[in-house]
Amino acid sequence: MTYLIIGGAGRTGSRVLDRLTTATLPVRSASRRTGFDWDDDETWGGTFRDVTAAYVCFTPDLAFPGVPEKLAALGRLAAASGVERLVLLSGRGEEGARASEAALREGGVPTNVLRCSWFQQNFSEHFLAGPVQRGCLRLPAPDVPEAFVDLDDVADAAFVALTRGGPGNATYELSGPELLSFADAAAILSEARGVPARFEAVDVSTFVEDLATDGIPAEEAEPLAHLFTDILDGRNAHLVHGVEQLLARPASSLSSYARRAAAAGAWS
Ligand SMILES: NC(=O)c1ccc[n+]([C@@H]2O[C@H](COP(=O)([O-])OP(=O)(O)OC[C@H]3O[C@@H](n4cnc5c(N)ncnc54)[C@H](OP(=O)(O)O)[C@@H]3O)[C@@H](O)[C@H]2O)c1
Repeated sequence: MTYLIIGGAGRTGSRVLDRLTTATLPVRSASRRTGFDWDDDETWGGTFRDVTAAYVCFTPDLAFPGVPEKLAALGRLAAASGVERLVLLSGRGEEGARASEAALREGGVPTNVLRCSWFQQNFSEHFLAGPVQRGCLRLPAPDVPEAFVDLDDVADAAFVALTRGGPGNATYELSGPELLSFADAAAILSEARGVPARFEAVDVSTFVEDLATDGIPAEEAEPLAHLFTDILDGRNAHLVHGVEQLLARPASSLSSYARRAAAAGAWS
């Protein structure tokens, strides 16, 4: 039995890979550095060789146009390769992501879907690290709360969904333990860092310009910016309990994450 982590070099994939390695389970990773490219299905050939269960993390975002077709092809390949279980990383409330989930399942391999809230680690490991560093979260975000989830909870949940018995074909919604606006998040990050940070509402084009400053390519920045207006309309403004369901413990808070990230020098 071998586990496969598609996106194993990334923010979630590396955490899932670490957990499987620590449990001394056989695991390998797939991404461009191992020869697997989402943009070229001719590179997918031996991806699932000897694989029993796989974690699927699509980059940059499951909700972007053209992704369902890729997920459908991957699902067919997984089925033809004898894979018994898939775990797909997805996002809460994203219509585009729903289409990608359904497309992967069309192949017939039992698939647990983890629909996640905004990652807490976006503030330190991804596109919001620059704004935190500058002490100003300039975002096209309305005053609508979000339930930011800790990537270590996501990885623990993925580990359980991948390794526990039974075929599994469930959908889990994962959030943190509290609803917070981006202004609340800025206050929590300020407290943990000991450096002031504030929230400022800006329009999409200003945010896209800021993302370019932080090195996010335009083809990722535009759809990312529109996720703010799509998802932050109140549809996700409630807590969900996939972390508790899968892990039988409470989800970790933004302040706990922020203290750990500050102590690890995330914004030094
Ligand atoms: N950010 C959020 O708040 C949030 C919330 C919910 C869901 N999500 C979902 O999370 C997913 C992203 O997860 P993540 O942050 O763990 O991923 P990530 O860190 O951005 O990327 C994972 C890996 O993908 C590989 N990669 C990049 N382009 C590739 C390509 N063309 N072909 C093959 N591999 C490629 C990269 O490794 P190589 O360089 O080796 O290729 C990278 O290390 C998205 O599907 C998104 O929808 C995000």
